Amino acid sequence: MAFPLTRHRRLRRTAAMRSMVRETRLSVDDFIYPLFVTHGTNVKEEISSMPGVYHLSLDLLRAEIEAVVASGVKAVLLFGVPDSKDAVGTSAFEENGIVQQATRAVKEWAPDLLVIADTCLCAYTDHGHCGMIHHDRRTGHAEIDNDASLEVLVKTAVSQAQAGADIIAPSNMMDGFVGAIREGLDAAGFEMVPIMSYSVKYASAFYGPFREAADSTPQFGDRKTYQMDPANAREALREAESDVVEGADMLMVKPALAYMDIIRMLKEQYDLPLVAYNVSAEYSMVKAAAANGWIDERAIVLETLTGMKRAGADLIITYHALDAARWLKGE
Ligand code: PBG
Repeated sequence: MAFPLTRHRRLRRTAAMRSMVRETRLSVDDFIYPLFVTHGTNVKEEISSMPGVYHLSLDLLRAEIEAVVASGVKAVLLFGVPDSKDAVGTSAFEENGIVQQATRAVKEWAPDLLVIADTCLCAYTDHGHCGMIHHDRRTGHAEIDNDASLEVLVKTAVSQAQAGADIIAPSNMMDGFVGAIREGLDAAGFEMVPIMSYSVKYASAFYGPFREAADSTPQFGDRKTYQMDPANAREALREAESDVVEGADMLMVKPALAYMDIIRMLKEQYDLPLVAYNVSAEYSMVKAAAANGWIDERAIVLETLTGMKRAGADLIITYHALDAARWLKGE
């Protein structure tokens, strides 16, 4: 009888042995925690499709920020839920816009916590698109005007930096957005504020719960003329390449779970820090199954986040961040 010469199981015999040869380690430093901020006082409204995620007014944001700091998570990503919308997304770039106010408050309460501002217009425009609308002269169809959108996005990014945002994260998928924002930030004296670009953002059904959270569902059409086709991989390299050339400091792939191959591709091609966005429906699916007692939430979340890191993500934006931070401490 022939016995195997190679015995993979030798290195799996004990917990200490497995720990010694473990290739990927999750750390609290990997996580970025998204928050939805809104006007008013005493608002803490749970988003029905995202249990544990809330709309928070600034007075109640403070306790949440203290919980983030206590968890050891180093960065929050701010999304605004404004009280007024118009065709050009004015509330996105006002000095007293909700994200601008929240940014100033967070930097005052917790100066060392990094504030990342999502730079987009969909929550601030009455039509719910990420850019400006114009009507094609020949067909009369409404279209997203790329270059007019860039001007508004630059104003938004500069106002966020003025409010004290540590990192600008443009998620709008207009062509040239990284270059335009870099130039605008530099001209306004913010040459040291990095850009975390949503480089590869797919037109995905996995954003459904977020659109309820941010009230940012497009009022007509969809985002397929600016966000990427989920069937494409090589195009992701072209998208990332322009962001690198235009001066992005970090690249992002979004969503994460169905796009692990894209995370790996970008990791192999580029040296910039790579971010994966573990998006809303990825969170909701876990929460729903866990609420039914069908899965072990803690094990599923840690395995999923480990998978994203193993695929190549250096950082993970996740609604599970505070839970995962606790679980990593063994709590
Ligand atoms: C804004 C934006 C979206 C998300 C982040 N920034 C929604 C969209 O593009 O429709 C989705 C995040 C999530 O689903 O968790 N453009």
